Order: sequence, then structure tokens, then C-alpha cells
Amino acid sequence: MRRNKITIVGAGNVGATAAHWAAAKELGDVVLMDIIEGMPQGKALDLMEAGPMEGFDANVIGTNGYEETANSDVVIITSGIARKPGMSREDLLKINADIVGSVTEQVVKASPNCFIIVVSNPLDTMTYLAYKVSKFSKNRVMGQAGALDCSRFQCFLGMELNISVEDIKVMLLGGHGDDMVPMPRFSTVNGIPVTELLPKDKIDKIVDRTKKAGGEIVALLKTGSAFYSPSLGAVIMAEAILKNKRRLIPSCAYLDGEYGLKDICFGVPTILGANGIEKIIELKLNDEEQELLKKSSASVAGTIAEMKKLKGMA
Ligand code: NAI
Ligand code: 2OP
Repeated sequence: MRRNKITIVGAGNVGATAAHWAAAKELGDVVLMDIIEGMPQGKALDLMEAGPMEGFDANVIGTNGYEETANSDVVIITSGIARKPGMSREDLLKINADIVGSVTEQVVKASPNCFIIVVSNPLDTMTYLAYKVSKFSKNRVMGQAGALDCSRFQCFLGMELNISVEDIKVMLLGGHGDDMVPMPRFSTVNGIPVTELLPKDKIDKIVDRTKKAGGEIVALLKTGSAFYSPSLGAVIMAEAILKNKRRLIPSCAYLDGEYGLKDICFGVPTILGANGIEKIIELKLNDEEQELLKKSSASVAGTIAEMKKLKGMA
């Protein structure tokens, strides 16, 4: 029986850790691709050598080309660069758009039937670019943000309530930036709304920490951004697709009228299964939530417009 094949493009912090999670979960064989010679091969071999201790059966191959990635079922794109001193946001946007655009072209050639999960930042804009460049149907291209941002929200609620995160379920919408919209009204501890368990000022603080959680890690690490949790976010999305789990995971999806938004990739609750994004759930939002979502979507639409201008896209 053929095993699933998962390609991860970019073997840096997020990519290599995604390979680790995917292999440990035995999601299939893993191909780790990067432009740095020897690095993906070295990391892949190191991970293979961990297999006997943990007892996972997964081939992990490192490569600098796309031949080995052929006919992947899921491709996770993590390639990109982080902003360096002296580099403008626009410079970074252009560089990452060039990387994600050319990577997507090659991924599509090698694996015409795959699902694409984008991780590279700015996330919503890179997902939009991959969707447009791939020419895939909208159910097959998605971005990882909601899984991570929800997990951070759950984690902070668990810390405050001193309750197992296993019993905490949350909802969060919007772009992967400081304007994201954590939704306390749709967040519960085994069905009990968190709004009944915590006072408003505590919830507001947790919401604010969730929105800025990426920056909190950057400030601590100083030389990079989070990778354990973002990579697991992408891997649980891949798992939901490969195992047809039909999990409800907020992810960045191409919208065509949902939430009153068109021609944008944006974080919404999605059902992930064998067909990728099987369904987008539209929540009934109150006026305050709608306003917050509008602000977040305006910010994402602005970056997409900027990227289209830089790339000369129609
Ligand atoms: P990293 O710098 O550790 O790894 C990036 C890798 O991409 C490097 O190894 C680099 O050689 C590789 N790369 C560059 N151009 C490439 C190309 N054309 N083809 C193949 N590989 C190429 O960065 P890290 O920490 O792994 O982050 C990766 C991306 O993920 C960044 O854009 C980061 O901002 C984003 N990110 C997104 C998150 C999310 O929740 N969506 C969370 C964390 C990071
Ligand atoms: C994060 O949220 C930087 O997008 C990255 O950690």
C-alpha cells in the first residue's frame, strides 16, 4: 500500500520541526526541501535516525530539488526570510512573495494533485499568492494561522483558569496579525462559556496577549520567531486532510462572499477533510465582532493590494 507523502518546503525552524511532528505522527513519508545544500539532507537523516528510538516508521528525505517531492499529497510551504535590520516591510514582502511564488510554481509542476498549506509570512497574503499562482481550486490551498492562534488562546486561558487545556475549546477569526479576532463568546471549557468563568478584564488581557503572542516569542528569542507551535498547526491541518478527519480548524481560506468578503484569503472556521477545505462555517457575529473583523480584513486586503502591485499582478 502506498504511504502518504508530505513535502515541506523550507527546512528552517518551522519546516524541520514540521517534519519532526509529521514523522512522529507517522502521517506518511516526508520530503524536506531547501535551497541550502546539505542542510535538509542532514536534518532528514538525523530525524530518520531518531525513528528507532521512538518507533516511528517514516522515510524522511532531504533534498535541494523538486524531483523527490513528486506526487506529494500535501505540501507545506515554510520558505521565506525574516526581516533583517535595515529592511523595510515592503522589501520583506517582495522577497517572500518572490520565494513563495516561485516555490508554488515548482510545487504545482511536481505535485499537480496536492493540497498546499502555506505557513510563510505575511500569512494571509502568501496564501492568496499561492492560491493564485497554483490555479488550484480554492479547497486545495490554505494557510496555517488559526490552529496556532487558537492554541495560544487556549494555552493562556488554561494558564489563567488552572484547568487542563484538553477541556478548553476556542474560536478565533481574522488575519494572522495583531488585528486577529479571538472570540470569547464562542470559547468554552467543556461547554461552559469562558465569559462565565473569568471577569471581562482578565479575558481582555488574554485576548490581547493572544493577538501579540507571535511578537512575544520574537522578543524572547531575538534571532527568529516561534516554530514548535506553528509547525504543529500545519501538521494537524495535514493530518485532518490525510485522515479525512473533518476537523473544524480555523484556517486561512480564499473567500468568495463568505463574511461579506471577496477575493481575499482570511482566517475563518473551516472543516478540513479529504477534500481539503470541505466547508467554511459562517458565524453570526454581533456588531462589535463585525467591526473587529472589518478592521482585520482591511489590514489583510491592504497587504494583498501592496503585494499585487509589487508583483505586477492584475
Ligand atoms: P527559517 O529562516 O528558519 O527557515 C526558512 C527556510 O526557508 C530557510 O532554511 C531558507 O533557506 C529556506 N528558503 C528560502 N528560500 C527558499 C526557496 N526558494 N526554496 C526553498 N527553501 C527556501 O524561518 P522559520 O522560522 O522556519 O519561518 C519560516 C516562515 O514561516 C517565515 O516566513 C515566518 O515568518 C513564517 N512563520 C509563520 C507562522 C504562522 O503561523 N503562519 C509562524 C511562524 C513563522
Ligand atoms: C508567529 O505568529 C511570527 O507568525 C509568527 O509566531
